[in-house]
Amino acid sequence: MPEDYKQAVQDFYATAAVSADPSLCCVDGAVWAFPGLAFPPRMLEMNYGCGSTVHPSDLSGEEPVLYVGVGGGVEALQFAYFRRRAGGVIAVDPVAEMREAAGRNLEEAARLNPWFRPEFVRIVGGTAESLPVEDGSVGVVAQNCLFNVFTDGDLARALAEVERVLAIGGRFSCSDPIATSPIPEALKRNATLRARCISGCTSYERYLQALHASGFQRLLVRARRPYRLLLPAEFPELEGPILLESLEVLAIKTGGTAPRPEVFTGRHVVYVGAGRFAAHDGNSFPAGVPLHVSDRLAAELGERPDFVVTPPTYHARSAGCC
Ligand SMILES: C[S@@+](CC[C@H](N)C(=O)[O-])C[C@H]1O[C@@H](n2cnc3c(N)ncnc32)[C@H](O)[C@@H]1O
Repeated sequence: MPEDYKQAVQDFYATAAVSADPSLCCVDGAVWAFPGLAFPPRMLEMNYGCGSTVHPSDLSGEEPVLYVGVGGGVEALQFAYFRRRAGGVIAVDPVAEMREAAGRNLEEAARLNPWFRPEFVRIVGGTAESLPVEDGSVGVVAQNCLFNVFTDGDLARALAEVERVLAIGGRFSCSDPIATSPIPEALKRNATLRARCISGCTSYERYLQALHASGFQRLLVRARRPYRLLLPAEFPELEGPILLESLEVLAIKTGGTAPRPEVFTGRHVVYVGAGRFAAHDGNSFPAGVPLHVSDRLAAELGERPDFVVTPPTYHARSAGCC
């Protein structure tokens, strides 16, 4: 990969800040709407994410939300909806043109939304690989469609930064495309395709592994759906079509280490014996009641004749019982 690929990515987004590029929007359908929240049209045209990182269940605390890679500011505005105070959202972006465009969009949002003031979102220069924020100072970090552009080394650096700035118990909400089969090297080396969130994507397994390697022990897979099919007609380097999926994951910083992460994908187990099953770790499974468990425990209990295990839904809503 050329050393300067990150500069090429930033140059690409400098252009996408000056003239909005709706073809970059990989969101299928409308963005989350909340009561009393109106988006400036220009902000919506600059929605360059896939999926969503804004989940009200992450936002019950008061700590600032750190948003990495502000884009046109859609998600920063959505996070501000829940924080509603000066500096409640800190948005980091290295591209001056993007920071300026987001600032203008947020000024316009303040004209449309009586509850919102531009200072609710503090936009600062900086990169994901060197976040301008103190250790353990934020409760929620979010990034949408940025980390997939990084090479493995830069991804590890960016994830280590997220882990550093989060308080224990903090949440990292991320949304990125993933690839269902390997992307040819020739496409991976193309910085523009990386910037367009097409060719830097890794696999589902490697995405989760990278989060775990950076210290995140509990991973909730919140969404996994098709978002783009790469075809040889458009990319002659391909031997066949490659499906890209949009993946939303919540990674929780629990502290400590474990050889494997606990991954929750919406699998449930149901005890079908008599009464209730008492597990050796103290958990109890009443007969006939589905309980959301980690994939590890689902696999373990699936070995037993007195348990039924449901397949992943990829809509995990909480870290389940165990
Ligand atoms: C694909 S856009 C996503 C924007 C926004 N998250 C959204 O969902 O609309 C990527 C964003 O990351 C910014 N960016 C590029 N390189 C970056 C880096 N090294 N660190 C942080 N942000 C970066 C770009 O300027 C752009 O705003």
